[in-house]
Amino acid sequence: MRTIDPSLLNANFGITKQLTFDIGPGDLPIVTIRNHHATATISVQGAQALTFQPHDEEPVLWLSPRSRYKAGRSIRGGIPICWPWFGPHPSDADKPQHGFARTLLWEVLGTAVGEGDTSQIRFGLHDSEQTRALWPYAFALECAVTVGPALEVALTIRNTDDVAWTWSGALHTYLAVQDVARIAVHGLDGVTYADKVDDYERKTQHGVVRIDGEVDRVYLATTAICTVDDPLLERRIEIDKSGSRSTVVWNPWEQKSREVADLGEDAYRGMVCVETANALDDVQPLAPGAEHTMRVRLAVTR
Ligand code: BG6
Repeated sequence: MRTIDPSLLNANFGITKQLTFDIGPGDLPIVTIRNHHATATISVQGAQALTFQPHDEEPVLWLSPRSRYKAGRSIRGGIPICWPWFGPHPSDADKPQHGFARTLLWEVLGTAVGEGDTSQIRFGLHDSEQTRALWPYAFALECAVTVGPALEVALTIRNTDDVAWTWSGALHTYLAVQDVARIAVHGLDGVTYADKVDDYERKTQHGVVRIDGEVDRVYLATTAICTVDDPLLERRIEIDKSGSRSTVVWNPWEQKSREVADLGEDAYRGMVCVETANALDDVQPLAPGAEHTMRVRLAVTR
């Protein structure tokens, strides 16, 4: 694993009083953004947004208090990037779940202050000996994280190979809620989903999604905006997406939470994942030289 010198990153990319690099838990480099609108932290490993909190709001992203911060391990919470496959590898169970993008150290490409005092950081990842051992293609990813009144994550995927390949993936967004049993997820009425807790059985959503047990669903062929209505926090989180045809809704509920070390007993109560994805039927082909951007924008509304 490469090591990173935060003073070098600050000298090259830091923005005074707005964007700084530090070494966080587990010696992982972390970017902190504080601007007029919000505070946010982002891990350079995985280009993973970890926290986002507009001023005068409760945190929007959920980050497990039991997260393991370790080189090469994914951090539980925020927005891990699942790529180049979503879920288990389609043909090789020994390969890491959700691909490798979330566990590798990305390169910082640039930072900028945008219109209306937004702050942006861009990360890059391209194929290496390590990635080619898991997936034999050339690629270049760019992830731009923009912090303003909303949080935006845009992942651009480029095929730099001379053969076509397909990918699946997700911006695996963990949202913070007061009590998952009291929320409603709007936007998926009438959509067909593969129910992963019922052997991928195809079902149709009727009305809003309510969570009163383990939920692990890939909603297919949907580009809809979803909103998480949280009556106890008296807010809605709007999940506006593009370049994505699947939406995954996941909550591990009680038993799985207890079984997974970096979740913990009651973790499931305070979180719901509504993931901007291309998965199962929505895997994406990409021709040599072509690119695709998958984007999510999270905003609190009332
Ligand atoms: C969800 C999947 O997106 O991610 C679930 O649909 C999975 O099946 C969950 O359990 C968490 O995955 P991981 O690898 O981060 O534990």
